[in-house]
Amino acid sequence: MPVKSVTVRVPAKVNLQLSVGPKEPDGYHNLVSVFQAISIFDDVTIKLSEPGAGLSISISGDQTHGVPADANNLAAKAVALISKEYDLTVDAHIEIKKSIPVAGGMAGGSADAAATLVACDAYWHAGIPRDQLDAMAATLGSDVPFMLHGGCALGIARGDVLSPVMTRGSFHWVLATYVDGLSTAEIYEKTDQMRGFEFDEMPEVPTELLSALARGDAPALGRLLHNDLQSAAIAARPTLGRVLEHGIDSGALGAVISGSGPTCAFLVRDESSAIDLVVALKASGLVDDVLRTHGPVHGARVISTSR
Ligand code: C5P
Repeated sequence: MPVKSVTVRVPAKVNLQLSVGPKEPDGYHNLVSVFQAISIFDDVTIKLSEPGAGLSISISGDQTHGVPADANNLAAKAVALISKEYDLTVDAHIEIKKSIPVAGGMAGGSADAAATLVACDAYWHAGIPRDQLDAMAATLGSDVPFMLHGGCALGIARGDVLSPVMTRGSFHWVLATYVDGLSTAEIYEKTDQMRGFEFDEMPEVPTELLSALARGDAPALGRLLHNDLQSAAIAARPTLGRVLEHGIDSGALGAVISGSGPTCAFLVRDESSAIDLVVALKASGLVDDVLRTHGPVHGARVISTSR
């Protein structure tokens, strides 16, 4: 029976480790990244439209600032990719309900693209093999493959070649978020400028951090959180340095900027420490909003289908 609509839920991510090598001739950087999917979700619904209507997009929810509702949205690019590959006629509407902060270093746009790939696959009964979905995801953006998988993973190359990482238990996070995002391309460029052209260190797999995750050892993980893009993000927005310090002074086990920022992620011991830190960060006046979350959680998956 044909499907009228499919809804896919997809999480945000934080980078527990982001090591960035020198810029390659293709303009990208080789990375070693440890991703964790966390419990802040966007919902992407694909619905039947009138024949000949083509593709339309609408955005709703509490994080819509600056998100394009047209062909520039990564979700629209995901539909275009699948329809071309599988020769599908697209008369459909994509509705994106956003809770993941926009341009926040939490892969919100990539998450929506991953969710759209999964939604299209279910909607058109395309039966796309997993490795092909991964390959399509990687062409849409470096973080899209992880948003398909979720959990916790080590990413190499552009961050898109993934292996699962073993974790024990659940980790509690507090996130300081901002309405105004930072440009990923600009933060990479600033990192290159700050390091100088002679920089040639290749990123390495963080074995201690991986074993802290496997043991479920939050205090050790807190000490090992690291991001090579952090200095550039702080240089672009100096408040971020003060927020990270304030979080540590207020009891966080560790603090790191996620991806290219500006979201600051604080690892805490438990839910009651999370509540205390939320209060302290809100009172600091240094952040726009504060969220409580946990990880790891699942990647993009279908939560409802209507026929
Ligand atoms: O792949 P994505 O579209 O998410 O990347 C956004 C920008 O971030 C790229 O245009 C590039 O400037 C930078 N980037 C990079 N090296 C990576 C990933 C991203 O330089 N591995």
